[in-house]
Amino acid sequence: MSTKFSMVAAHSRRPAGEDSIFAINNAAQQAAKVHGADKVVNASVGALLEDDGKLSIIPSVIELLRGLPAVEYAAYAPIAGLPNFLEAAKKAVFRDQTPEGYIEAIATPGGSGAIRHTVWNYSNAGDHILTPDWYWGPYKTIAEEHGRFISTYTLFDENDHFHIEAFCKTVEELLQKQDQLVILLNSPANNPTGYSLSNEEWEAVLSFLKQKAANAEKKITLFVDIAYIDFAGKTNECRSFMKLFGGLPENILTIVAFSMSKGYTLYGMRCGAMICITSNQDVAEEFKAANQFSNRGVWSNGTRPAMTVLAQIFENPDLLKKVETERSILQQMLSQRAAAFMENARKVNLKVCPYKAGFFITIPCSNPEAVTQELQKDLIFAVPMGKGIRFAVCSVPEKQCALVPEKFVKAIAKFE
Ligand SMILES: Cc1ncc(COP(=O)(O)O)c(C=O)c1O
Repeated sequence: MSTKFSMVAAHSRRPAGEDSIFAINNAAQQAAKVHGADKVVNASVGALLEDDGKLSIIPSVIELLRGLPAVEYAAYAPIAGLPNFLEAAKKAVFRDQTPEGYIEAIATPGGSGAIRHTVWNYSNAGDHILTPDWYWGPYKTIAEEHGRFISTYTLFDENDHFHIEAFCKTVEELLQKQDQLVILLNSPANNPTGYSLSNEEWEAVLSFLKQKAANAEKKITLFVDIAYIDFAGKTNECRSFMKLFGGLPENILTIVAFSMSKGYTLYGMRCGAMICITSNQDVAEEFKAANQFSNRGVWSNGTRPAMTVLAQIFENPDLLKKVETERSILQQMLSQRAAAFMENARKVNLKVCPYKAGFFITIPCSNPEAVTQELQKDLIFAVPMGKGIRFAVCSVPEKQCALVPEKFVKAIAKFE
């Protein structure tokens, strides 16, 4: 921490410097200027890119946005979100897999906003928020920004399945110390591993939480981060686990985070929603009240044009079909890249986390910083994490994805 003269309050003293992922991206771009873009593998970007490095977009979504009248851009949205957007967000999240229960939605700036409100409104000051050991870095930032801490459990067991014992043990420990527990679970198509819990694994998670909820003093909020669901498989199949959120005890609240960033290629529009499922109507009403209040208190209202676009898509089956057809081209590009990486990883015996779908593949290794540096000598730019390296298949052409596993094996061997 800097010893320079400081003006910020003690709780806001933060380390200076560039975000590490953006720094790696900058280094990759510099390398591309020197060596040529086709020689550089930039696997640091967390967005789906075309083979030429341009951001992939769903054209019909952008057309809808462009076609909106000026007042749609200029006007405020209601604090809780446009009512037709909130209905559309529920449809986009559940499709044909709507669980039983009271379901309410509040607009937030992307999934990030939903994480923020959940952490703030469903845990107490100083509480620990639970997430697996492989997790999206901003979970920690958001927890710390709000005076909470992150606790982790081991995501994978020795068979590369969800480590239910580790999960249960950590839940148990935390519930001995605190009455409110927020659990952040990013599935399907987890960032950074690409893992998706099976329905049996979800059942095991819920069955254990139900046991814990037998103690009425304990209040458990299960936050399901589905940021990548539109790249996680067949529409209803990859949502079938959502039915399991119906009929839970009233002291288990499920909140699903909806984001327009990836599934609708509207990253910059900052539009999403938090959607609750509860067996108790009061809990649903309270959810609306608390999170609407937080909207007002933190960012006021959300991005109206993006809300209108989603509403239009879900009010018109032809439009929805068009969006889905265009998205399927992107899905195919992504799955071909991932398949190329995985196939070659198998050939060269590169150990990777159990990838099912999504933007990232993660390679566990013991010295991620050093291995990442070593890979940069081959002009491969990936992101070191606590226990491995995140490779963004979403931003790397298929041909390069196929060549990279062998380089990983060599770089890792140097530091084993
Ligand atoms: C796991 C995960 N959750 C949530 C988000 C939130 O994205 P947004 O706030 O843009 O919806 C991201 C974005 O990268 C993510 O990777």
